[in-house]
Amino acid sequence: MRVDDIAVICDIEKEAFTTPWTEAAFHNELTNNQFAHYLIMELDGLIIGYGGMWLILDEAHITNIAIRAAYRGRKLGERLMIQLQSAAVFLGAERITLEVRTSNVIAQRLYAKMGFIPAGLRKGYYTDNGEDAIIMWAHLRRMSEEGTLENE
Ligand SMILES: CC(C)(COP(=O)(O)OP(=O)(O)OC[C@H]1O[C@@H](n2cnc3c(N)ncnc32)[C@H](O)[C@@H]1OP(=O)(O)O)[C@@H](O)C(=O)NCCC(=O)NCCS
Repeated sequence: MRVDDIAVICDIEKEAFTTPWTEAAFHNELTNNQFAHYLIMELDGLIIGYGGMWLILDEAHITNIAIRAAYRGRKLGERLMIQLQSAAVFLGAERITLEVRTSNVIAQRLYAKMGFIPAGLRKGYYTDNGEDAIIMWAHLRRMSEEGTLENE
């Protein structure tokens, strides 16, 4: 993700989240946060998704992942997660974590498929409606010979 991408990313962010990050927040991530790594997904030259993480020592923390609404349900989110996990391994991560709303069953199913296991709750984590966050973790393994990522 580059600074030039932020306007489009914010359109997708608004579609995807009830409390979307601002352009300034993404700008800060790309220019000031040494721990941050963000990927975009392009299809036919259009940005249709993005995801990001903070890499701190051997732990990756996914901050956000979204696919443009019109492109969901085509395994693109899954491909993006594989790329994020691959990038995390490349950058030296051994484990990867994220938070997900208790109501976001679609994302939870995606994460479970990618090897994430629920590890606890952050009570009232989401300020818009007081919803709890499920904390999920996955152990990252080395890339397999085929270049795909295996999770424990
Ligand atoms: C979560 C999100 C990134 C998934 O992307 P996607 O491209 O639609 O998902 P995929 O087509 O790659 O599906 C991957 C897996 O997710 C789950 N999933 C996807 N759509 C689903 C649906 N409508 N119902 C139930 N599970 C679903 C399934 O486990 C699916 O695997 P399967 O098809 O083998 O069962 C996308 O829905 C999104 O952008 N949501 C809004 C933002 C968001 O909630 N981000 C996560 C915040 S924690």
